[in-house]
Amino acid sequence: MTVTDDIKVTRARESKLKSLSIEDMHFGHSFSDHMFVAAYEDGKWQHLEIKPYQPITVSPACSAFHYGQSIFEGIKAFRDLKTKDIHIFRLNDHFKRFNTSAKRMNMPEVPEEIFKEGIRELIRMDEAWVPDIHDYSLYIRPFMFASEAFIGVRPATKYEFMVILSPTGPYYSKPMRLFAERHYVRASEGGVGFAKNAGNYGAAMYPTSLAKKNGFDQVLWMDAKEHKYVQECGTMNIFFVFGNTVVTPSLGEGTILDGVTRMSIIRLLKDMGYTVEERHLSLDEIEERYKKGELTEAFGTGTAAVILMISGLADGNNEMKFDEKKWKVGPAVKIELDSIREGSAPDKYGWLEKI
Ligand SMILES: Cc1ncc(COP(=O)(O)O)c(C=O)c1O
Repeated sequence: MTVTDDIKVTRARESKLKSLSIEDMHFGHSFSDHMFVAAYEDGKWQHLEIKPYQPITVSPACSAFHYGQSIFEGIKAFRDLKTKDIHIFRLNDHFKRFNTSAKRMNMPEVPEEIFKEGIRELIRMDEAWVPDIHDYSLYIRPFMFASEAFIGVRPATKYEFMVILSPTGPYYSKPMRLFAERHYVRASEGGVGFAKNAGNYGAAMYPTSLAKKNGFDQVLWMDAKEHKYVQECGTMNIFFVFGNTVVTPSLGEGTILDGVTRMSIIRLLKDMGYTVEERHLSLDEIEERYKKGELTEAFGTGTAAVILMISGLADGNNEMKFDEKKWKVGPAVKIELDSIREGSAPDKYGWLEKI
């Protein structure tokens, strides 16, 4: 018996796809016909099911609401426009990161077969939802939360693992204007910055709203000890280009999410002939080298947007402006990665997994 044989399948009576237009495919707005569900009870994963996408019922005492054991992933599947095959981008890296998050949040790890086969079977079922349009993809959202009805601070004994799918168009966002946050922090050493737990995102909302009120798009998160070294921007990893050298903050302290796009960009940049340094990078160094004209561009990386260029970076009242005419590395590496993901360039790194 394989995991696939264990999945109980209930098909939706009708597909919602007919009523979906291209305009509805904004990131995270529409969801496919089915969802994958598995429950952790009595110390094991069971009740694997694919069923019509629907609301779920949980107790008001559901532990995730009160004590925050809740994690997720964000993955993309692409349709090869020539062969029409469907590929998932770096599924194994997302799987590993999911269980890294689970471990840190004292949640049970999801077995590889359940995580991967659950996703594959769900996509096979909702295959028609994978857009056949350039720049479009299927966003895959696996998540897990503590479902036990219990009030009291201790790890829950029951969890739900689910996967939902959302077709999505290109991420047309203007370049970001960042505000370097020297008071509020996203992550500290020994904390949960490297995990994709829901609380990290909840805690970021207030400082991000303050930055937005002041006309910025995102916060540049700084280290919690000295408020001196850069970590991430918004929910993206960050890269700074100094001529032929590209610098991105190192992951050693466990304060930064180990982005799958980040690791892909590092690999591509190296193969494009750039020197990539993963190290501590202070705002002072950034400002000094900007003044000398050495810093020409900066960008964020993540699954949703791939690369988002940075137009400005403010430290208090001082703002560094990045001239679009000088942007070279970010746009070039975006084309490289997009072409691999969409199948128009060979998958020489083995990052794509055919469904
Ligand atoms: C906090 C944070 N940093 C970085 C990233 C980029 O990670 P990835 O490239 O795996 O999407 C994300 C998005 O997942 C994120 O939420």
